[in-house]
Amino acid sequence: MIKQAIIPLAGLGTRLLPLTSVFAKELLPINGKPGIEYILDECIEAGIKDVIFIISKKKIMIKNYFFNDYFYKRIIKKKKDPRIIKEYKKILKYKKMIKFVYQNKPLGTGDAVLKTKKFIKNKFFLMLLPDDLIVKKNCSKSMIKVHKRFKASVMASMNVDKKTVSRWGIFKLDKRLDKKNYSIKDVIEKPSTKTAPSNKAVIGRYILPKTIFAKLMDQKPGKGGEIHITDAIQSLLKEKNKIVAHNFSGKYLDCGSMNGYIKSTLEISKL
Ligand code: UTP
Repeated sequence: MIKQAIIPLAGLGTRLLPLTSVFAKELLPINGKPGIEYILDECIEAGIKDVIFIISKKKIMIKNYFFNDYFYKRIIKKKKDPRIIKEYKKILKYKKMIKFVYQNKPLGTGDAVLKTKKFIKNKFFLMLLPDDLIVKKNCSKSMIKVHKRFKASVMASMNVDKKTVSRWGIFKLDKRLDKKNYSIKDVIEKPSTKTAPSNKAVIGRYILPKTIFAKLMDQKPGKGGEIHITDAIQSLLKEKNKIVAHNFSGKYLDCGSMNGYIKSTLEISKL
């Protein structure tokens, strides 16, 4: 059963500088709603009960967004505005399911995941990267079904243009399980066009086993001196853990860059 999700939010967000020097990009509105709320709604609809946010002190604004009861109570008492009451109720619903852990130095996604170790209860958990919005079909929900069916870890996958493989983590496939799912042999971070084993890229949704924490504890920094989650996934694959790449049906929107962010607003407004 997948009931817990973790969301790493402690990165520096350098692609959205100068904005991210003072603001948490995950709170930026996409068609009027903060990006992080789309991620939370995806979790709720997929049956997730607990969400762990990994933030840093610099991102305390995210915690304040969800824990601002005094402000809401005061303003509601004064204005009795039904819209504000509705918004506050929505915030309360999210607040009930969120816990915060801190990663004050951005040592990498793997290090961020490791901070949640003592909170993970079941054998598997879901991880969502908030820059990657997937709309039209709930990707987490589909991945949970795939996990149940194949009794395996699952990573979201999307076909990308061969010329752009060096921007992504790329899967080395093992065999095709059905129309949408492949078992994988390896994941290679940002390969060159010549060496890329496929054009199937990793997108930010993962169902990972609790055993990944043991790998992360032993893991040395990799590319760029960071502790990458991909390196820990490679260690799992070396030990013959089954991991399925799921070609999701929804539409992928990249909100981590300014161009992508602008496009995502336009796309969502058309839905
Ligand atoms: P990225 O490194 O892709 O993005 O991290 P970033 O740091 O947010 O932004 P750029 O690349 O500098 O523009 C992927 C996800 O992992 C989180 C980020 O917050 C993002 O959601 N992350 C990354 C952490 O929580 N901790 C880290 O040490 C690194």
